Amino acid sequence: MNVVVTGANRGLGLGFVKYYLALGANVWACYRSEKNNLDMIDSDNLNCVRWDVVDEKDNSFISESKFPETIDILINNAGIYGPKKESGQSLDSVTARLILDLVDVNCLGPLRVVQRLKPMLIATSGKIANISSKMGSSEDNTSGGCYAYRASKACLINISKSMAIDLAPNNIRVVSLHPGWVRTDMTDYNGLIDIETSVAGMANVIDNVDNYSPGEFISFDGKVIPY
Ligand SMILES: NC(=O)c1ccc[n+]([C@@H]2O[C@H](COP(=O)([O-])OP(=O)(O)OC[C@H]3O[C@@H](n4cnc5c(N)ncnc54)[C@H](OP(=O)(O)O)[C@@H]3O)[C@@H](O)[C@H]2O)c1
Repeated sequence: MNVVVTGANRGLGLGFVKYYLALGANVWACYRSEKNNLDMIDSDNLNCVRWDVVDEKDNSFISESKFPETIDILINNAGIYGPKKESGQSLDSVTARLILDLVDVNCLGPLRVVQRLKPMLIATSGKIANISSKMGSSEDNTSGGCYAYRASKACLINISKSMAIDLAPNNIRVVSLHPGWVRTDMTDYNGLIDIETSVAGMANVIDNVDNYSPGEFISFDGKVIPY
């Protein structure tokens, strides 16, 4: 099994790398600039590829030869939160620039990656998991605020749905995932669950993606999230 993970040098991305290596998969771990923890993994099945998902130049230079001819699972995990203090993304403070920057990484990043790796996914009728967030669900939004992050993750859920429909004829399954509230750098380690629990849950959803409608938004615990 060949697995590609973006934003793989820390947090949930690194968790996915370790999870799939433990299963015996070949893993292509993509990192933005620093490999960090990836250097500490001793495995012949690990391949590290530098890939900043916003960099159009990087994107065109990402040569297919850096990846396998077939990809079974692509995990679009790379993401940013933006200013963490509520006041940094409030109605009064949020700027168009901030929203565009978050959309660029969190939504256009996965789109670019899929555009680049589509042939290898088609070759094996692979699966695409786009890591969104419950904060991208309008239905779940009862507290307002956080304009940039919410918009970027809602945007990702929507492009995932289109991808699911467009790639269905190629037998590629696409799902949006919510990892839960996980103890990583992004949450300043304040989450409710650890990386291992979140990753194992999301991997289980990916395994069982055929039980869900194309493009559905699923929590790490298997529950469908209205969006
Ligand atoms: N943690 C949670 O509770 C939670 C909840 C809901 C959704 N999520 C989502 O889950 C995903 C992973 O989150 P996390 O908690 O593991 O976050 P994290 O610890 O902050 O890690 C984010 C990862 O994304 C990478 N990244 C950021 N911008 C990138 C770019 N332009 N190109 C390539 N890689 C880039 C980072 O690379 P660098 O090290 O180079 O910065 C890092 O590897 C994100 O999409 C996040 O929005 C997380």
